[in-house]
Amino acid sequence: MLPKPPQTRVLTVANQKGGVGKTTSAVNLAAALAQCGLQVLVLDVDPQGNASTALGVAHEDRTPGTYEVLVEGLPLSEAVRPCPDVRGLEVCPASIDLAGAEMELAQEPDMVARVSLLSRALADHVAEREEQGRPRLDYVLLDCPPSLGLITLNALVAAREVLIPIQCEYYALEGLTQLRNNIGLVQRSLNPQLEISTILLTMYDARTRLAREVADEVRRAFPTRVLDTTIPRSVRISEAPSHGETVMTYDPGNSGALSYLQAARELVEGHHARLAAAAPVPADAVEDPEAVVPAPAEPGGATDPAATAEQTVPVARLGQPEPSDAAEVEEGADAVDQTEEPEQPAAVVDLRSGPLDLRGSWTPDRSTASGRRAAERRA
Ligand SMILES: Nc1ncnc2c1ncn2[C@@H]1O[C@H](COP(=O)(O)OP(=O)(O)OP(=O)(O)O)[C@@H](O)[C@H]1O
Ligand SMILES: [Mg+2]
Repeated sequence: MLPKPPQTRVLTVANQKGGVGKTTSAVNLAAALAQCGLQVLVLDVDPQGNASTALGVAHEDRTPGTYEVLVEGLPLSEAVRPCPDVRGLEVCPASIDLAGAEMELAQEPDMVARVSLLSRALADHVAEREEQGRPRLDYVLLDCPPSLGLITLNALVAAREVLIPIQCEYYALEGLTQLRNNIGLVQRSLNPQLEISTILLTMYDARTRLAREVADEVRRAFPTRVLDTTIPRSVRISEAPSHGETVMTYDPGNSGALSYLQAARELVEGHHARLAAAAPVPADAVEDPEAVVPAPAEPGGATDPAATAEQTVPVARLGQPEPSDAAEVEEGADAVDQTEEPEQPAAVVDLRSGPLDLRGSWTPDRSTASGRRAAERRA
């Protein structure tokens, strides 16, 4: 059993590099968390629908899923399905329809609404569960496609944390600058608390010098964010999805399954340790309570009002390429900023009262049946 977080933790699993283990990590961490007694939801936001397959949830053309939630305003609760093999684990499936959502979202003239649809749907879902007296979600993991389009932006706006899986191979860090630029853009406009909280090294083969060197480089670039646990290459991990399962149920004793279990434990325990470290010292724990002064805001951090004001960017730029992106991408791995941003404390999210509460800025599409249902619900 693992402790529940004080509030729902929402993690977007992103890396625009393809095939690095985003889906594998999202589904196996989610399954491991649920097996440890937590309530977990996976939002498949990739038109490939790989997370849905791996969790044994149908995602044929007509299955209501992320497309209907994003484009037609279908309430998440109507799209979410239980994972058949793991109690406490639910999935919002994605089908190939979702590929069309990029185009449809691009037509939404309101820039804030365009990237806030998922955040709003998730906030409504969390509120609805609470109203119905259902157990609170402990973890929500969003499995992103290998791109930085509007769907990934929606996922970044909906989360408080980003989990980046990195495959320990040559060019591992390539493209991370671009991902960090987008995270920065979302941070400075809509979601100031968004942070890269976790990096997971995947398909790690400790026998090769290259893997060790890449791991060292990643740990130097993000000294406090990389989980100690690495995920080894394992045939059983790659076989599991073809059986509609995660390796956590397909072969629980396998080294890959044990590593994902250990990574899930680290994800949870590290968070609780950070919360404890950030908690204010109780007044009776110091000799002179009057002497306790609030800690100064971290320079450049989200809590620094001056920094936040200075960094505010027009929302209109969301979804547009950053002017510097092209140049930085060409520079490749060397261009990754080697200095880590200041450690942020509690990475928890109150989806109903936080900066993401944008309810009211978007209306469901009444021309579709599910949109009409959503509109009626909202009314
Ligand atoms: N630890 C591992 N051991 C062996 N194979 C793995 C491991 N992790 C992932 N794979 C395999 O590598 C391939 C890519 O993994 P995965 O689909 O998780 O990456 P992804 O980042 O989600 O890809 P995409 O960018 O296409 O969404 C898959 O075939 C998967 O089964
Ligand atoms: Mg994937």
